[in-house]
Amino acid sequence: MKKVILFASGSGSNVENIIGYFKEKQQKISFYVFTNNEKAFVLERARKLQVPAVIFSREEMNEGKVGEKVKEINPDLIVLAGFLWKFPSAIIAEYPNKIINIHPALLPKYGGKGMYGKFVHEAVLLNKEKETGITIHYVNEHYDDGAPLFQAKVALSNNDTVEQIADKVHQLEFIHFPEIIEKLLKD
Ligand code: GAR
Repeated sequence: MKKVILFASGSGSNVENIIGYFKEKQQKISFYVFTNNEKAFVLERARKLQVPAVIFSREEMNEGKVGEKVKEINPDLIVLAGFLWKFPSAIIAEYPNKIINIHPALLPKYGGKGMYGKFVHEAVLLNKEKETGITIHYVNEHYDDGAPLFQAKVALSNNDTVEQIADKVHQLEFIHFPEIIEKLLKD
């Protein structure tokens, strides 16, 4: 059975959507949720979905404890689904081309340190962009910088709010992220 570790820091709507997608298709995959945030709603979702969850601190990550736990599982794929810390380079070195991230904008626009969640959508709104979208990419040692795998766009209207932009982006994420994961697991 394939194993997938989902890293998330917050709500985890992508995590729930990804797990639900494979459940619906009756594709048996062992999922694990890893989070740096003990208060993250993703933990509540993991509990309901009966998926094992690991909570870790900055120290545990820096000391290689997260890497050790990842190694114990030996995943086929590592998915950053709303994970907000820089990913450890030791794990990146260990899993070449097996770690992907989703970014809520059309990279290389609106990427880099501090560009996550609503901050991305606020910048898109401020710049009066006519469109935004999602980028799914391999993870390297720099924020939002690894080789792109997939992009999808959505049109924006003049009166879209930050919440409406976030909603449009989430809709794209829900459609495409599980499909890309499925494809990578088959390759
Ligand atoms: C998603 O929109 C994801 O693209 C974004 O965080 C959100 C998490 O939502 N990721 C980043 O901004 C990473 N730079 P979720 O917790 O509801 O899945």
